[in-house]
Amino acid sequence: MAQKNWRSDQSRDQYFIKARKLGYRSRSVFKLKEIDQKYKLIKKESRILDLGSSPGGWSEYIANNHSVKTIIASDIQPMESIDNVKFILGDFTNNETQQNIIRLNNNQKFNLILSDISTKKTGNKITDQYQFYNIANNILEFSLNGLTSNGVLVIKVFIGHGFEDFKNDLDNYFENIYIFKPKSSRPESKETYAIGKKIRYTQNL
Ligand SMILES: C[S@@+](CC[C@H](N)C(=O)[O-])C[C@H]1O[C@@H](n2cnc3c(N)ncnc32)[C@H](O)[C@@H]1O
Repeated sequence: MAQKNWRSDQSRDQYFIKARKLGYRSRSVFKLKEIDQKYKLIKKESRILDLGSSPGGWSEYIANNHSVKTIIASDIQPMESIDNVKFILGDFTNNETQQNIIRLNNNQKFNLILSDISTKKTGNKITDQYQFYNIANNILEFSLNGLTSNGVLVIKVFIGHGFEDFKNDLDNYFENIYIFKPKSSRPESKETYAIGKKIRYTQNL
């Protein structure tokens, strides 16, 4: 029954319908489009990392709308291939996955790191938040090493337990922080996006 309601909610959702009509892989693409239009973060010749990329809406959006140097996408689940996008299958919290990403980027730093990762819900809100912020902290740590000094991190975050601490960490490490909830993000969802611009100091990879 719950499944049935979820399906009918999905089919009433205007962004879901629009994504299907336009042949996009996911409705998430509209969120990146809004972030891109507002903050103009995807620059020519950028090296971009797309974390939690499957089924591939964000990578496809970038590949189709921007002329960038590299797009590396990574997810714990497989992704159907996209022209000009290199994919790494793996859990981002595994060091091996992170090393594979660095190698595939020829040990260069990224100009933009995007994360749309969301973890599987267990039904326990505190556990869910804890698991999510464990990954988010991994992404932040990786970004401090892996972004150029003018680089930008865009990361999906969830309001609730752990959010304020994570935001304080972003404040400590980035010159500018923005919190933005795109219109295409479901209003009832606790998700929002944090954007960190310009690392205060950088480390070597
Ligand atoms: C909302 S979907 C991303 C949608 C994507 N941005 C798009 O436009 O198609 C969230 C993704 O996070 C991935 N994910 C969850 N935990 C992960 C982990 N530990 N490492 C890598 N990816 C993970 C899931 O497999 C899922 O594909």
